[in-house]
Amino acid sequence: MNLYGFSQHLLTSAFLLLAASSCLFISLLYDHKASTVRVTPLSNLGEKYSAAQPNGRVYLQQKAENSSNHVSDENNCGIAAERRFDCARDRALTQSECEQRGCCYVPLPQSAFSGPPWCFYPVSYPGYRMGALFPTPRGQEASLTRSTRSYLPRDIQTLKLEVMAEEAGRLHLTLKDPSLARYEVPFVTVPPSTSTDTRSLLYDVEFQPEPFGFVVRRASNSRVLLNTTVAPLLFTDQYLQLSTTLASSLVSGFGEHYTGLTLDLNWTSVTLWNRDMAPHRDANLYGSHPFCLIQEGDGQAYGIFLLNSNAMEVVLQPAPALTWVTTGGILDFYVFLGPDPQSVVRQYHQVIGYPMMPPYWSLGFHLCRWGYTSTNATRAVVQKMRQANFPLDVQWNDLDYADKRRVFTFDPQRFGDLPEMVKEFHHEGMKYVLILDPGISSTSPPGSYKPFDEGERRGVFIRNLTGQTLIGKVWPGPTAFPDFTNSEAVSWWEECIRDFYAKVPLDGLWIDMNEPANFVQGSVLGCPDTDLEDPPYVPDVIGGQLNSGTLCMSSQQALSTHYNLHNLYGLTEAMATYRALLKVRGSRPFVLSRSSFPGLGRFSGHWTGDVHSDWEQLRYSIPAVLLFALYGVPLVGADICGFEGDTSEELCVRWTQLGAFYPFMRNHNDRPNAPQEPYVFGQQAQAAMRSATMLRYSLLPFLYTLFFQAHTSANTVARPLFLEFPSDPNCQTIDRQFLWGSSLLISPVLEQGALELAAYLPPGTWYSLYNGQPYNSRGQYLLLSAPLDTINVHVREGHVIPQQVPALTTAASRSNPFLLTVALSSEGWARGELFWDDGESLDTFEHGDYSFIIFIAGQSQLVSEPVKVNGALDGLVLGEVRVFGVSTPPSGVWANGKKVQDYSYRTDTKVLTVSSLSLLMSETFTVQWAASDITNTSHLPTVY
Ligand code: NOJ
Repeated sequence: MNLYGFSQHLLTSAFLLLAASSCLFISLLYDHKASTVRVTPLSNLGEKYSAAQPNGRVYLQQKAENSSNHVSDENNCGIAAERRFDCARDRALTQSECEQRGCCYVPLPQSAFSGPPWCFYPVSYPGYRMGALFPTPRGQEASLTRSTRSYLPRDIQTLKLEVMAEEAGRLHLTLKDPSLARYEVPFVTVPPSTSTDTRSLLYDVEFQPEPFGFVVRRASNSRVLLNTTVAPLLFTDQYLQLSTTLASSLVSGFGEHYTGLTLDLNWTSVTLWNRDMAPHRDANLYGSHPFCLIQEGDGQAYGIFLLNSNAMEVVLQPAPALTWVTTGGILDFYVFLGPDPQSVVRQYHQVIGYPMMPPYWSLGFHLCRWGYTSTNATRAVVQKMRQANFPLDVQWNDLDYADKRRVFTFDPQRFGDLPEMVKEFHHEGMKYVLILDPGISSTSPPGSYKPFDEGERRGVFIRNLTGQTLIGKVWPGPTAFPDFTNSEAVSWWEECIRDFYAKVPLDGLWIDMNEPANFVQGSVLGCPDTDLEDPPYVPDVIGGQLNSGTLCMSSQQALSTHYNLHNLYGLTEAMATYRALLKVRGSRPFVLSRSSFPGLGRFSGHWTGDVHSDWEQLRYSIPAVLLFALYGVPLVGADICGFEGDTSEELCVRWTQLGAFYPFMRNHNDRPNAPQEPYVFGQQAQAAMRSATMLRYSLLPFLYTLFFQAHTSANTVARPLFLEFPSDPNCQTIDRQFLWGSSLLISPVLEQGALELAAYLPPGTWYSLYNGQPYNSRGQYLLLSAPLDTINVHVREGHVIPQQVPALTTAASRSNPFLLTVALSSEGWARGELFWDDGESLDTFEHGDYSFIIFIAGQSQLVSEPVKVNGALDGLVLGEVRVFGVSTPPSGVWANGKKVQDYSYRTDTKVLTVSSLSLLMSETFTVQWAASDITNTSHLPTVY
């Protein structure tokens, strides 16, 4: 919907609202010209109302236009279909039941279940009344009271509203029960506000006292970003609901689901409830991210985060609007004002935490399969990879290693020499990761399985309502589930990892099944009949009940009930695992978690679960990866070649090519399927996979630098095009291509049999990474050739990409010569950066133990500026420079002032390649090229 259309609807609704209620309107204006918050009561607003605020802004002044969708308005029911807000979300209602609620019942030709609701709120449906706003040290607060009961059980009659202007671009608003503390999400550490200077705020907030609602506008252009006056606030013990209009239909977020980059707002809903579920449409998957980013259509964007971990449904409708329904906790909203999309992401990550810095080796190639049934089978895989000359940094084992599938053990027959195998891998410069499920087998004879015995003794497991250890069933059979919100469990977990590590010197942990998954519903004894198991409203979850495929909702954890904490299980396990690895290994931890919640990226990466080996799942892996970038989990990838079902050679080649550009690159396969290690395929396929993987390895210095930028500045690694080109309308929904940082454009083949693809190149010059062939784009789709051995990768003009000669492991590649690819802008400039450290120590940036180099090209020379140098760069050299876009053949090339013989220039592509260099990376170097012979270089300008 265009913005014009939107504003018409907004005004229509605003008018109806005012005309019907003649309500008192309090305008709380954070006037950016005034130094204090201004509260302006506006009384007796009527049909002709038109008010100019003290700061000159005019609100709510235009009479509604008739819409063809309107029905007669005897009961304030004349609301356009797309702006109907469902009054029967909790259950289906007959007309009379609907009207008993005081709602409008107006049938439409289409079913009420797949389109606009038939039973919907009239204008000014009764709700809360807001009292006066009072200043507090953190902002303002007001009381909200309701005089009538809602149609749901256990209303919270009085609420406290707190409004906190924490940062210029961040509004924080909470609604809580002032008399009884309710569950609130722990762990999200909001940094203290640095400024409450209301003059600089990017937003205005207005409140409608009765029925309560608020409107958030962008200060610069008065655009309405949220308007919650369109439907009532409901706040009961187990059903909390708030609706708002949105500024546009370009909404990205609310994962984890199998969707594109932007959501379908045509009467769809997404449920946030962590679930062990292979990715498919309309299903709640492994993680929950109650955050969305909305592109406003003009390059600006805002974000909304509802910090709440209860089962939640977000209903999307074409107004555009959405309704949050959550089943507990409080309403804790953040609005991020950007104004550009990357700033929204940064503002969000400031609240949930910036992502961790991954170990360098974790950016290499990982190989896994459920079904490497012994150490010898695992060794054989590694050996075949070596024979095939294929990079491999990390070999994994799935549950096969564990004795009777019990974690913290290894099978004495098949994996008896696991410790030796891991040491052998280390000897070859590789790393080793194995799987760790949270479920602890509970049926081993007493004294024979320490993790359970000790866990019971220390009381670390989740308990059922009557206080006994809750027993479910996972791979080993009956299992107990550690409660990672219990500090005793966190130290017990560390000890389990320490004991195991003393035998098996693993390098990282893969935490699976941590939604938590349970093969019986609730527990082996079922679940008690309580309001938690059977709440007044169950969002649309797979299985129909909250305890489907997981634990009883009434089970007890240290911080609260599982009902409240369920969505945090994976996050809390990741926190405990990260902490344990750090303490036990003493270096930067590597954790890969299936389940996720905001903040996961501080501790862990994520893979997208049990994807099927088919072309559609290949294609949807791109938005999955890009969305996790928005969620602050940049280390993410899908199982290359697919996990479930047999792959095909062509699919596996294309998936490996795309996977070479997942920030996390792992090939993983399920037991019954055809093998899919690269070496099982024909020579041509192997060559294609090898060259894509080698290309990734050559780009690892660049990728690592992007992770550094994510860790320190909340930049994204894999990046949707709209984040980099927010004003280009063509980029708004592109999710078949993506960027690495701001400068590499990846355009994979996603269709079977395709040997070319239509790829969008934003305006500017883009050079083929392979040969420097330039494309001058006006912002257009180009048909690119993509034979089976090729994934199209383009470098954006004006950028320098740091690379390194690849090798079969990162341990080896990290000492190879660097390469610089310089993509000159049309004016002949380019810039790039390299972050470098030892790749595995903790907090090298924080401790200043790293190197940082800036590369600048201009006026026919490339200069490095080592801003900071440490020992990690010792002995490393620059071996080659490729300069794209050198318009005339150089007559000479100089490195650090000395003439270089070994260079070439192609007149067709205008690429200059300078080889056989050996310039120390730790020192400033200069590479110059000139159209005429230069013997004295001292007059050449130095570019900084
Ligand atoms: C489910 C995980 O998603 C999958 O990757 C793993 O192979 C199996 N569990 C077995 O551990």
